[in-house]
Amino acid sequence: MSDFVIRPLTDDDKPWVQQVATTLWGSTRMVSRGKLWDMTELPGYLAESDGRAVGLLTYKIKGDECELASLNALTPGKGIGSALIEELKAKAKEMGCKKIIVITTNDNTNALHFYQKRGFVIGAVRINELENSRKLKPEIPLIGDDGIPLRDEIELEMVLV
Ligand SMILES: CC(C)(COP(=O)(O)OP(=O)(O)OC[C@H]1O[C@@H](n2cnc3c(N)ncnc32)[C@H](O)[C@@H]1OP(=O)(O)O)[C@@H](O)C(=O)NCCC(=O)NCCS
Repeated sequence: MSDFVIRPLTDDDKPWVQQVATTLWGSTRMVSRGKLWDMTELPGYLAESDGRAVGLLTYKIKGDECELASLNALTPGKGIGSALIEELKAKAKEMGCKKIIVITTNDNTNALHFYQKRGFVIGAVRINELENSRKLKPEIPLIGDDGIPLRDEIELEMVLV
């Protein structure tokens, strides 16, 4: 893969975001902290290589907190995820945010590795929160990555300086 560039999402990208979300997450409907939200309605950044989308980050800003809502590198291990995080850090600082939070699940050991090595620390663990999430999104599976039972939300945070 040649170098990639990162640009903000536009309305024209929505069909692609919908397709990626449905393929990778099962739906554009996501649940975190007991709230249902739709990935296609959020701002974000796209990584492109040779005119082809290779990465996607979406986020929400509320008050002085920025939530990294979703992150996907379609070609993992090439620096796309790290570059998208750097872009979000710059945006969050520009918007006056004091921290970035991201919520993942207990089975996603890749994400826990990735975020902690990029400066995030665990801020909260919500035991068995997925039971509540399934009331809003019944299609959330019982078993997650690597056959691990999918049950807890893990919130990581990065304080911006
Ligand atoms: C986690 C993810 C966003 C990282 O993006 P990336 O572009 O692969 O990351 P980078 O190339 O910038 O960095 C690679 C690092 O991520 C780790 N990593 C995590 N998942 C990986 C994967 N599936 N493949 C390769 N590397 C992965 C590598 O071990 C490497 O860590 P290191 O710093 O110890 O070398 C990406 O692998 C992905 O899309 N995963 C599936 C979706 C997901 O879980 N998203 C986060 C949910 S909250």
